[in-house]
Amino acid sequence: MQPANSLPRVRLLATGGTIAGTQLLGGKRGYVAAALSADALLTAVPQVAQLARLEAEQVAAIGSQDMDETVWLKLAARAQAALDESDVAGVVITHGTDTMEETAFFLNLVLRTEKPVVLVGAMRPATAISADGPMNLFNAVAVAVHPEMRGRGVLVVANDEIHFAREVAKTNTTQVGTFRSTHRGLAGLVHSGRVHLYAAPVRRHTAASDFSIDGLAHLPRVEIVYAYAGMRPELIRAAVQAGAAGLVLAGVGDGNVNAACRAAAAEAAKAGVIVVRSSRTGGGVVERNIEIDDDALGFVAAEELNPAKARVLLQLALTRTRDPRAIQEMFHVY
Ligand code: SIN
Repeated sequence: MQPANSLPRVRLLATGGTIAGTQLLGGKRGYVAAALSADALLTAVPQVAQLARLEAEQVAAIGSQDMDETVWLKLAARAQAALDESDVAGVVITHGTDTMEETAFFLNLVLRTEKPVVLVGAMRPATAISADGPMNLFNAVAVAVHPEMRGRGVLVVANDEIHFAREVAKTNTTQVGTFRSTHRGLAGLVHSGRVHLYAAPVRRHTAASDFSIDGLAHLPRVEIVYAYAGMRPELIRAAVQAGAAGLVLAGVGDGNVNAACRAAAAEAAKAGVIVVRSSRTGGGVVERNIEIDDDALGFVAAEELNPAKARVLLQLALTRTRDPRAIQEMFHVY
């Protein structure tokens, strides 16, 4: 075994979530998210001390349904500060699973680093029968210190799987195997700390990204509008009236909406709001000019990004430009 002081340094940034949750006592259903501190999480997995010298920092203590741009910007700043320390090998972030894919993708686009950044959560609270958090955390640290994980962008580790931030999505309300990377597949597997690498990420990220949090106090407002049979255009107009600079349509099928909503979205685009067509289906590519004439209507196609991730990219894109053509190019690149 390596002497403790020669082990790599890893910064653990805790934000809450079920991984830090405790079950209600007295036979009541449910649990309280974000009840345990970062140090308490580490105490539950003494084995991580064999992998790394962990330094815990509590950045937030929330269920990830309450994650927002304020915490994103603070988290990104704390992660960047840790990554900029030359002898920190990587960063592990504990996070609720509900919005983990959005935070992971945001960090994947703004952090300037080649070092591993690993988000980890759990589907069962820390005090539940067969809690999944301790093994997930152990595996996350193993991935963060693995030399071959450099340059792979931000990752999500759960249920023995390593996912790329861009690809991963939560697909099940309760099962421990909730995370899936349906389009381009897994980054790898990790069994009891042993890492098996598969693919490399294909899209631009982290050190090569054009986005950053430098000088950003807030992110542009982007709303998601969900499409359905009989959808009415009022919600699109309401989002614009509320001040949205961008709009993501969680469209039916290939990112489509009915004629009335298409007209309302085109009106918004004409007024300078960036309209991105994504799909509510959970899979597939939304391409330009197939079912909808994006060129004529001034829309942007989200390609593979689900609505939540399309929103993240659009928020960052809007920090650079309001030109839909330039933003479409970003959806090709990131
Ligand atoms: C949350 O996202 O904070 C709650 C659910 C979870 O962590 O699994």
